Amino acid sequence: MMAHEVVVHTKITRGPSTRSVCIGIDDGMISAIEKNLDGDRVFHFDDFLAIPGGVDIHTHMRDPGMTDKEDFFTGTKSAAFGGTTTILDMPNTKPPVTNLLAIREKLDLVKSKANIDFGLFGQLGDIDDIPGLARFAIGFKLYMSDTTGAQAITKSLEHLLNSDHLAGKVVTVHAEDPRMFEGKDNSNLHRHNQVRSIKAEFMALKRILSIETPVKLNLAHLTTLESADLARANKSTYEVTPHHLLLHDASKIGTFGKVNPPLRKRSLMNRLFDDLATGRAIIASDHAPHTLEEKEVDFENAPSGLPGVETRVPLMMALAKKGILKHSAVQDMCCTLPAELFNLRKGKIEVGYDADLAFFDLDNMVEIDSEKLHSKCGWTPFEGHDAIFPAGVMLRGKMIVRGGELAIEKTGEFLK
Ligand code: NCD
Ligand code: ZN
Ligand code: ZN
Repeated sequence: MMAHEVVVHTKITRGPSTRSVCIGIDDGMISAIEKNLDGDRVFHFDDFLAIPGGVDIHTHMRDPGMTDKEDFFTGTKSAAFGGTTTILDMPNTKPPVTNLLAIREKLDLVKSKANIDFGLFGQLGDIDDIPGLARFAIGFKLYMSDTTGAQAITKSLEHLLNSDHLAGKVVTVHAEDPRMFEGKDNSNLHRHNQVRSIKAEFMALKRILSIETPVKLNLAHLTTLESADLARANKSTYEVTPHHLLLHDASKIGTFGKVNPPLRKRSLMNRLFDDLATGRAIIASDHAPHTLEEKEVDFENAPSGLPGVETRVPLMMALAKKGILKHSAVQDMCCTLPAELFNLRKGKIEVGYDADLAFFDLDNMVEIDSEKLHSKCGWTPFEGHDAIFPAGVMLRGKMIVRGGELAIEKTGEFLK
């Protein structure tokens, strides 16, 4: 038997069952999955559950321009410690990624800081900028309303979404209809929810889904079962965030829970779990850190957005441990479905896929502690929530997180 470059002894889930296997790895890719394999290098995670490295298709790493909140090094390090090995980064950086020059400059600035693999979104604005952006962007972002650091699109959506250069591409939509925002007395989470209401979300979704277009519409951060039903009925992919599943408008976290779209009522939050049973949701973090100083102001003046790239998979692993979600569903929603949407050779433990793996000791459930997280922002809205963090993380066959340390830095590659 020929020895593989790397062999990992571990456990994997296949449907409802878990079994012990050896994963053979060559050239950074999974080359065999068997009961026994020989390797030049052997890693023992025999009693750990391996899942595919997480794929988070919605992050704001703030680089360039807002590196007091986060930068590409700290953001991708934070992701790695949470078992995520691929991120797709949003374009509302400074300057915004609205043309070829901007995406080239962003790529140049961030690529040497990436601890995990990454792709970049372009922001839809001027139709003439789409071909240039399309040379480097993995997908496009469309803002239907103003949100932190981004202005709503003012051009005709119909015209833009029918640009030849967008055909077949993913367009992720921030769907809130600003004409439906009710009032401005933005004094607490409850009021924030009333102002940027579920109706404003639902009507924006109806509008965007009524447009005939050859793009793949992906609907970001849906907050209600009704929104998700609408997406599924229209055969659109959609994202659900951990914060809309686990936090609500009466959570006692003040400005640290201020986010767009807002946290909803507890009853709606609970019903969002029914959607996960359809197996169609993509769990994405919408990791959007702001500094403590920026958040420690009165509610009206606090920016919207909260961090979550490091806690996304660990929170879901804890829900699986408690029997609230199936392990197979967690892997589908956090890894496989998001990778499939962007045609990435990631998100599955199968021969021919990148050897991106995260290893979990399922008996090691902990309470989230902001001091142990790695984002530059230094806080989390999930303080005290149950989570299971990975004991080791592998990116294309290399152990990047091991023994609580970032074992290999800056080995992330750009995905187009
Ligand atoms: C995001 C941010 O801060 O970049 N804020 C947020 O509340 N989600 C922008 C966004 O995705 O809307
Ligand atoms: Zn958004
Ligand atoms: Zn976002």
